[in-house]
Amino acid sequence: MANSSLCLVLASSFMVLSLAAGTQFKVGGSGRWSAPDNNAMTYNQWAEKNRFKIGDSIVFTYLPDEDSVLLVDDDVYKSCNTSSHIDQFNDGNTVFTFTHSGNFYFVSGVKDNCDKNEKLHVVVLGDRTNKSSPAPAPLPASPPAEGATGEPSPPPNAAAAKVVGVVSSLGAAAIAALSFTF
Ligand SMILES: *[C@@H]1O[C@H](CO)[C@@H](O)[C@H](O)[C@H]1NC(C)=O
Ligand SMILES: *[C@@H]1O[C@H](CO)[C@@H](O)[C@H](O)[C@H]1NC(C)=O
Repeated sequence: MANSSLCLVLASSFMVLSLAAGTQFKVGGSGRWSAPDNNAMTYNQWAEKNRFKIGDSIVFTYLPDEDSVLLVDDDVYKSCNTSSHIDQFNDGNTVFTFTHSGNFYFVSGVKDNCDKNEKLHVVVLGDRTNKSSPAPAPLPASPPAEGATGEPSPPPNAAAAKVVGVVSSLGAAAIAALSFTF
């Protein structure tokens, strides 16, 4: 049937997408970024059911004239003082990609909604090379090019190697000149 082949196409493009760019999560699992109902699951309860890795992303959907997303520090997360933030998004379809491990705090840009628990704390797991972490379970194979977050490259060593190279070719030239003289 047409429907099932459409599903198949969608499913396989999703798989390709998640292979290429990490997993994309809809914040809260479904529905709009909004103040949760009293008896609904909170965003943090949803987050605790998931594992987020570097390269994964989360999507907030909301009506841009009614709500927004703020990336904040833990103080603002607790206080809902929405007058300060690290970053803000108000396009109605905010995709946020985790580029490093650690804690991420999001709140609604509407202070009243933040006070009503429209907030999210995500812990992004470090990469597999971090041996000091308690290692919950082996991470699924990640693309090898993962460490793009800026480890200091070794230019000093490379420069030193070059200097050594120059010095030794000078030495070789000197030896050559010397043996030519004799
Ligand atoms: C909220 O944060 C701003 C900027 O950091 C600060 O000036 C203001 O006093 C804070 N408001 C409250 C109620 O704490
Ligand atoms: C490794 O894990 C420790 C503790 O969990 C953390 O403080 C540190 O920043 C991590 N290092 C990297 C490179 O992720």
